[in-house]
Amino acid sequence: MNSSERIRQAAILIERCRRLVVLTGAGVSRESGVPTFREKGEGLWSQYDPMQVASITGFLADPVASWRWHEHLRDLCRQAQPNPGHVALAQLERLLPQVVLVTQNIDDLHQRAGSTDVVPIHGTLMRNRCFFDCLGDPTYLTEEEMEPGFPDDGVPRCLFCGRWARPDVVWFGEMLPPELIDRAVGECRQADVLLVVGTSGIVQPAASLPYLAKEFGAHLIDVNPNRSGITAIADVWLEGPSGEILPQVVEAVRLLREEKISSHAE
Ligand code: APR
Repeated sequence: MNSSERIRQAAILIERCRRLVVLTGAGVSRESGVPTFREKGEGLWSQYDPMQVASITGFLADPVASWRWHEHLRDLCRQAQPNPGHVALAQLERLLPQVVLVTQNIDDLHQRAGSTDVVPIHGTLMRNRCFFDCLGDPTYLTEEEMEPGFPDDGVPRCLFCGRWARPDVVWFGEMLPPELIDRAVGECRQADVLLVVGTSGIVQPAASLPYLAKEFGAHLIDVNPNRSGITAIADVWLEGPSGEILPQVVEAVRLLREEKISSHAE
């Protein structure tokens, strides 16, 4: 089956579904200039040790180094713009009764592209919270507060208690916020279609969501230029960059919808 036939096959599954769940990983942001984690040679984890920069133990060992890494990635994400793949996913909300977008990404690009029901299961880099969870509430920083106004020891402070702040992201070895993962699991159990975009399908518990969705009867579509941990169980594999593939899928869904409307009108 050639790629346009696969696009049409995916569009037919999406157009007729009532509950679409999307699961994205770093690949969907790659065409915005945000690096992935495991891309051969250029992924973030080929340049940095995740246990040093993105874990509790790493932060405690050297909070300044961890903050430098997060600030670098935060600057990259803030300068990045949503790409056509992010925009296409947001457009799907106008074509379908329900679209829930579960993302492993912490770059806020889905929200900036206009997606309105986003479940950021790994948190967001655009917000700090108290390392000691003094209020339990993440503190949204204003633009100027986001500037690297590092206090003397190089570690940003909690705006409420004055002790260390940390980015409001999930680090390796940490539990995901229960309300977010519970929502993601609940939506995948009810999904008619799970559209998986740009994830290697390696990191748990996100990597289990496609298997769960399939077990509860969902059709799986995998958008990825490479085979991932999901491809083997996907009904349709759309092989290519999501920034090119997703706009084609959305256009095909739109045309199918128009055909349906005009056939009803006759
Ligand atoms: N379009 C779609 N997918 C792409 C593109 C693209 N243009 N370019 C690369 N990819 C795919 C790669 O083939 C790979 O399968 O994106 C995937 C990125 O995989 P990872 O780098 O492992 O990122 P991700 O799956 O999001 O990692 C999950 O691991 O380190 C943790 O918390 C981090 O959320 C992250 C989690």
